[in-house]
Amino acid sequence: MKTFRVAVIGCGAISGNHINGILSAGHKVCALCDIVPENAKENIEKYGLGDIPVYTDYKEMLDREKPDSVHICTPHYLHAPMCVEALQRNINVLCEKPLCISIEQLHAVLRAEKESKAKLGVCQQNRYEKNMLWLMDFIKEHGIRSALGLVSWKRDEAYYASGEWRGTIQEEGGGVMINQALHTLDLLQLFCGMPTHLISHVSNDYHKDCIEVEDTAVAHFEREDGVRYHFYATNNATADLPVQFQFVTADGKKVFATNNIITVDGELVSVSDSVSPANPHMVGKTVWGTGHAILINDFYTCVQEGKPFRIPGSEGAKVVQLILSMYHSHGNRIKTML
Ligand SMILES: NC(=O)c1ccc[n+]([C@@H]2O[C@H](COP(=O)([O-])OP(=O)(O)OC[C@H]3O[C@@H](n4cnc5c(N)ncnc54)[C@H](O)[C@@H]3O)[C@@H](O)[C@H]2O)c1
Repeated sequence: MKTFRVAVIGCGAISGNHINGILSAGHKVCALCDIVPENAKENIEKYGLGDIPVYTDYKEMLDREKPDSVHICTPHYLHAPMCVEALQRNINVLCEKPLCISIEQLHAVLRAEKESKAKLGVCQQNRYEKNMLWLMDFIKEHGIRSALGLVSWKRDEAYYASGEWRGTIQEEGGGVMINQALHTLDLLQLFCGMPTHLISHVSNDYHKDCIEVEDTAVAHFEREDGVRYHFYATNNATADLPVQFQFVTADGKKVFATNNIITVDGELVSVSDSVSPANPHMVGKTVWGTGHAILINDFYTCVQEGKPFRIPGSEGAKVVQLILSMYHSHGNRIKTML
């Protein structure tokens, strides 16, 4: 396998998961970029990256270093323009979620992906969790009659104060949906299929003093065949609760699932150890899952072998389309944005 020269833009909380994934897949981190150079220098020290250059201007880094790939780990509003700049230079991109925060940005990224010789991947790593893969197979076999996804997490003032972009419409692009609950909604649409219509309500119930985006959202999604599935997410819980899925399959089986547990009609069928802190892939918070290293390894295998990656732009786009549609619904039944 070729050793790729990989650059990382954005050296905050999630960047360690990327650096760890790049190194454990056998590739080289060739440069880092952050508008706060101390953040990059901290990573160089922590991960023993040696004498590599630090940039504050990502375009300058792309032009001078000409990396094989770049990982984008910056605030949400920067994802789309950074993807476009890299893809136009035929540099492979692994972009953190969400792929973008507006339909205009989405069209620009997908166009750049189509016109580029390089590959775009989106970091929705929960698609690689063992229990989620099991559920996908089970649902493919048994079909869906109804489904529910639940996210109840705690994000307090200290969390929102940890980055100026957090909690802002301009830079985060939304609240609990576009940031924390995105992974769960992405999985739900993967299990149930993209809906044609939805009704959604979003509100800021407990964070009015510190953020301008939603801390709570509910949505009902309708498939063309009339099957409905439902979603609830909040950032105002008093502790992080396990993410939950519930399904009734087309043949009447009742499924309950978290990252660790799956039961079918009350019987335990699979227990995953994939979120154990003892897992060698584990870097960062448990709620982020363990998929980063697995996803990064898969991305480079696909680039090397010229195979399609599991989450290209078109797959990262789906959950963004759903979330932007939720923000436009205001309690009305609307078509899913395309
Ligand atoms: N996949 C996951 O489970 C997961 C988990 C956490 C975060 N994330 C995503 O990762 C991204 C970053 O989140 P975070 O928690 O690390 O944020 P953060 O605020 O901790 O880090 C962002 C970094 O980007 C830098 N930055 C800002 N503007 C820049 C620019 N123009 N050029 C270069 N660097 C710039 C900041 O200085 C900061 O160091 C977000 O998209 C977030 O949603 C994903």
